[in-house]
Amino acid sequence: MDVIIHQTQSIAGHVRVPADKAISHRAALLCALSEGQTELTAWPSGDDCQRTLSLVERLGVVVDRLPGGIRIHGVGLTGLRAPQGELDCGESGTTIRLAAGLLAGQPFVSRLTAAPSLCRRPMRRITEPLTQMGACIESHGSPSPRAQDAELYPPLQITGCRPLHPLRYRMPIASAQVKSAVLLAGLFAEGPVSVAESQPTRDHTERLLRLLGRSVQSHDGDVRLEPSQEALRSPGRLVIPGDPSSAAFLLVAAAVLPGSSLTIQDVGLNPTRIHFLSVLQRMGADITMTVDPTTLQGGAGDDQWEPRGTIRVAASALRGTTVEAHEVPRLIDELPILMVAACAASGTTVFRGASELRIKETDRLHSMTTGLRQMGAQMAASGDAAVTITGAPLRGAAVESFGDHRTAMSLAIAGLLASGQTRIRGAECVGKSFPNFFEVLASLAGPSRVGIF
Ligand code: S3P
Repeated sequence: MDVIIHQTQSIAGHVRVPADKAISHRAALLCALSEGQTELTAWPSGDDCQRTLSLVERLGVVVDRLPGGIRIHGVGLTGLRAPQGELDCGESGTTIRLAAGLLAGQPFVSRLTAAPSLCRRPMRRITEPLTQMGACIESHGSPSPRAQDAELYPPLQITGCRPLHPLRYRMPIASAQVKSAVLLAGLFAEGPVSVAESQPTRDHTERLLRLLGRSVQSHDGDVRLEPSQEALRSPGRLVIPGDPSSAAFLLVAAAVLPGSSLTIQDVGLNPTRIHFLSVLQRMGADITMTVDPTTLQGGAGDDQWEPRGTIRVAASALRGTTVEAHEVPRLIDELPILMVAACAASGTTVFRGASELRIKETDRLHSMTTGLRQMGAQMAASGDAAVTITGAPLRGAAVESFGDHRTAMSLAIAGLLASGQTRIRGAECVGKSFPNFFEVLASLAGPSRVGIF
C-alpha cells in the first residue's frame, strides 16, 4: 500500500489512540496464567497483540472476542497445555521474547517461529538468562545462510523445566523484554529472581504482577520477584490505556505544525514510557499533561495499576537538544519521531547511544536516515550510533517504510511538514501497532492531505 501525504498548515482535534501494545501483551500472558476470567477492554487490533492472543489460545486458553475487547479464561499457573504444532510469533519481538520466558517454565516442548523480519532479530539476550534458570533452548535460525556470528535467531525450540532455578541477573543491555522474560520465568522458579538494569526500562510487567498479587520490589535498579505458591488473582477487568508510543506521532505533528492544537484522551502516562514528552518540552514544546487522579497511587480500584490521562499539545518553535545514551531506554520507540521533531527545530539535535535501533523491525537508523535525507534533512549517523540532525526545511519525496511501522508513521508526519507531496511505499506495516493511523491522520489534517492507494 502506498500513502500520499501533502504538506499541511496545521492539525487540530481530540483523538484516542489504540490501546497500549506493551501492556496488552503482558495482560494476555499473565491473565492466561491467573485463576478466573479477565475482561480486557480496548484490546488493540494491531497484528502484534493478535499474535500473543493466538499463542495463548494454542496453549489451551479460551479467549472470547467481545465488542471492543476480549475475555480471557485463565487456566492458573499449572494449566497451560502443550501446543499442537508451532507457535507463530509473526513479526512481534515482544511476543517471542516474553513467551519464551513463560514457556521456559512449562513441562513440555514448544517451538516458536517467526516471520522473516523477526528471524533477523537477536535472541541470545533472552536465551542466556533462561538457560541459566534451567530451560533448554535451541535456536534453529540464522539471519543469512552465511552468517557466522555467535548470535541466536528464531525459530526457537524451548524445552521447559519446572521448577526453574532462582536467578540474579545483570542485563548487559537495558531491555524491558529481557527483564519481562526473566520475571515471567520467575513465576515457575523455586526461589527469587532478580534483574539488575543499568537504566530504567518500562515497568508494565512489574505493575501487573503486583496487581495479580505477587511481591515485586524495585530498588536502585534491581527488580526482584519473590517466589510464591499462591495463584495469580484475576482482577476481573482491566481497562488498557491508549499507547503513548502511538500518540507520539500525532503529538509531534501538533508540536511542529504552526497553529496546531491536539488533545489525546485516555492515554497511558506511565513515567517509564513518556520521557519523550520531557525531551520535547526541553526543545520548547508546549505540552500539558493531566493525570486522571483515580489512576495515581492511592486511587480507587484496579485503575491505580497504570496511570493514564490526557496530553495536550499546541504548536511552538522548537530548538535542538542532546538526547543522552542513558535516556534512550525510556524513549527507544519514540526516537524515529523525535528525529522528525529535530528536523523542524532550529539548531542541532544529537541522539547518542541509539544502537538498539539497528535491531528493531528493521535497522531504524538506516530507514530513518535514508527517508529523511531523501526529504532534504541534514542528518548524519556515526559508527557508534550517534545521530546528528540540523533543522532544515523538508521537501516531499518518495520514501520507503522498510516494512517498519514506526518508520512509516514518522515519515508520514515528516510528509505533513515537507513542501509538496510525499509518497510512503509499504505503508500497510502500520497495521502492526496502529491499523487506523492514516484515517486518524486524515481526520486531523483534512481528508485531502492523506491519500491511501
Ligand atoms: C518493548 C520493549 C522495547 C520496545 C519494544 C516493546 C516491550 O524493546 O522497543 O517495542 O514491550 O517490552 P527492548 O526491550 O528490546 O528495548
